[in-house]
Amino acid sequence: MTGIFCAIDAANMQDAQDMVRKLSKVDIGIKIGLELFVAEGPFCVERLRELKGDTPVFLDLKLHDIPNTVAGSIRAAVRCRADFITIHTSGGAAMMRAAIEAAQDAAAQLNCPLPALLGVTVLTHMDDGDLESVGQQKPSGDQVLRLAQLADMSGLQGVICSPLEIASLRKNLSPRMKLVVPGIRPEGSAAGDQKRTLTPQAASDLGADYLVIGRPITQSADPAKAAQDILDSLARKAA
Ligand code: C5P
Repeated sequence: MTGIFCAIDAANMQDAQDMVRKLSKVDIGIKIGLELFVAEGPFCVERLRELKGDTPVFLDLKLHDIPNTVAGSIRAAVRCRADFITIHTSGGAAMMRAAIEAAQDAAAQLNCPLPALLGVTVLTHMDDGDLESVGQQKPSGDQVLRLAQLADMSGLQGVICSPLEIASLRKNLSPRMKLVVPGIRPEGSAAGDQKRTLTPQAASDLGADYLVIGRPITQSADPAKAAQDILDSLARKAA
């Protein structure tokens, strides 16, 4: 069944811990993003993992720099013992390969688990007009496919894409590639800044491995219930 990561986009450790405690009994992973990582430092990853118990942790650093710098950052990030770490595919094949080698080296040297590296394609708040404004003439679906194929050839374990690209990526990427999908909005919830969205059920039916869901869970009156309702709806579909 499709798994869920809840994006804990909190400004400080206190707010992050409060949210993770509310979600402690729900069978979902947690995603730690740049906001909390920059505010609180790498220690927040281990602390939140302990609080949530045995749960997958996704460190969404979205690294994008020259290969040497990304490799060094990945080497340091491996110490956080996250299960997934993100880098930008638009940094190119050499950058992605340097990240993979650095992760393997660091995991072996530090005796840490090897994280799966995932490639961010086109961010889900961007539509074709936004892409054109940064010099990309192609429709977002074509650009996502191009970047995802580069990630596949470079050896990443998966990519981040919007729900609108799942079908095309499933058809065109190696079966080993994990599809991790933000831009998820349950029926009736506010899109906010996201533009390329679908419901959890639709994204799951299309073949997402994991959904990344933030505000529809964290900003609801009862985050545990909101997350459990989504899990239940996915389980009903799978049954
Ligand atoms: O609150 P919301 O459900 O929009 O949160 C989505 C999460 O997924 C955010 O933490 C955002 O940083 C992340 N994300 C995204 N689009 C990508 C990659 C990651 O929205 N392409």
